[in-house]
Amino acid sequence: MSNYIERFSTSERVLHWIVTASFFTLLLSGLGLYSRLFNGYFNLFGGGQNAILVHKIGGVIFFCSSIYMYLNHKKDVSTFDQDDKAWVEKRGGYLSRDAAHFNIGKYNPGQKLFALYVAAATAVLGVTGVFIWAPTLFPRWIVQISLLTHGLMFVGSIMFVIVHVYLATIGNPGTIDAMLYGDVKRGWAKKHHPKWYKETTGENP
Ligand code: HEM
Repeated sequence: MSNYIERFSTSERVLHWIVTASFFTLLLSGLGLYSRLFNGYFNLFGGGQNAILVHKIGGVIFFCSSIYMYLNHKKDVSTFDQDDKAWVEKRGGYLSRDAAHFNIGKYNPGQKLFALYVAAATAVLGVTGVFIWAPTLFPRWIVQISLLTHGLMFVGSIMFVIVHVYLATIGNPGTIDAMLYGDVKRGWAKKHHPKWYKETTGENP
């Protein structure tokens, strides 16, 4: 019996990495638009006009891939059960020194909330992005509110993505295997997602 079980298919992983690559492209091309302090980042793209073009193309790719990723795992991230409630009450055990065990399915509530935030932020960034893209076509107040909201959602997204990357790498060793190779160690699955392990393998963790 293999020591690994499948967590994500190749297409799921490719989709996640398209979302990631377009997200960081948007970050780098958008920093100079966010504040003059970051104007130096325009040099990465050969100037401000090119950075804006990259930001627009990256925005379309991020919007489509991120919404598609959400629709793909909507069933797994949008329902919360009693076991999730126990996880939330104990903050996933992250704030305690005692060993904590939760009967968690494919995603824990923190991951579900992150996925829901990403979907909502994608929608808001996309809609406000359209108003900013063609400012002369819309009333001034809509463009101004869009600029503010676009910036706030961007700051929120960066903060959550930093936490996400930490938890998916150093914070929980073995997790990154899921997105790099598609499969994870059985021990990892039993520890972090025992309910999902049972559903997937039919074995008691
Ligand atoms: C270097 C950057 C990133 C790394 C290393 C990374 C890693 C991972 C890993 C390992 C998983 C699977 C977790 C599991 O199997 O339990 C995952 C899931 C996910 N990732 Fe990323 N990710 C990165 C960037 C991003 C970005 C930029 C976004 C969106 C803006 C994103 C959105 C998601 C979502 C929605 C999931 C599913 C829910 C979750 O596990 O939190 N990721 N990521």
